[in-house]
Amino acid sequence: MNVCAIIPAAGQGTRLGGATPKQFQTLRGKPVLHYTLRTFQESGLIDSLVLVVPERERKNARADWLKRPSVVKQVVVGGEKRQDSVYNGYKFLPTDTDIVLVHDGVRPFLSKRMIQETVHVAEKFGAAITAISVHDTIKQVDAAGLVQRTVERNGLWRVQTPQAFRYDLLGEAFRKAQADSFYGTDEGALVEYLGREVRVVEGSEWNLKITRPEDLVLGESIVAKLFPEC
Ligand code: C5P
Repeated sequence: MNVCAIIPAAGQGTRLGGATPKQFQTLRGKPVLHYTLRTFQESGLIDSLVLVVPERERKNARADWLKRPSVVKQVVVGGEKRQDSVYNGYKFLPTDTDIVLVHDGVRPFLSKRMIQETVHVAEKFGAAITAISVHDTIKQVDAAGLVQRTVERNGLWRVQTPQAFRYDLLGEAFRKAQADSFYGTDEGALVEYLGREVRVVEGSEWNLKITRPEDLVLGESIVAKLFPEC
């Protein structure tokens, strides 16, 4: 089975502030992306990986990540939205790919277990996403800060990456989304839009998405725990 990964890392990271996008900011001296790619590299489960970066990072990223031996086989430029970036990456996958994993560059603490399980479920059923169930009380709030209603949290899940798909199914989902100008915030939404089933695999609270300045502080502690030699 040929398993390939796309890592979208072409965001501008404006929410974190500063000129450096969050995937290139450092945790214990190494870029966030270093930890993300390292887990894919060391998992031994991936045949090749397409890294998607902003135009201005392409040259540096190629120099840094295309060193051999590396699971990173292509460094390509992203698009306007995350979905455009992932679709750009998809176009560079080998056509004999069986399963495609999509994982945000800004989630450096995924585990080998998540890669393994999403690939396994996608092989069996077509599409698998990692997610964790919601424990907080959820409310819908309007722009003025007024609570509109309390949402029943039973059955709600917070979605993460990695997500895994059969290659043909993901291609079909991208083409349909593009034809209809449909945008989702994950690839699972594109498969749902196609009317096909998507299965959930247990994610993890460790699988933090580096979004806000405080996430870098949390990230430093997680690196110390998961990568003690760094
Ligand atoms: O935008 P969001 O925070 O959901 O970003 C998730 C991932 O998608 C990040 O790794 C980011 O770099 C990437 N991204 C991208 N191209 C964009 C926007 C986001 O590759 N145009």
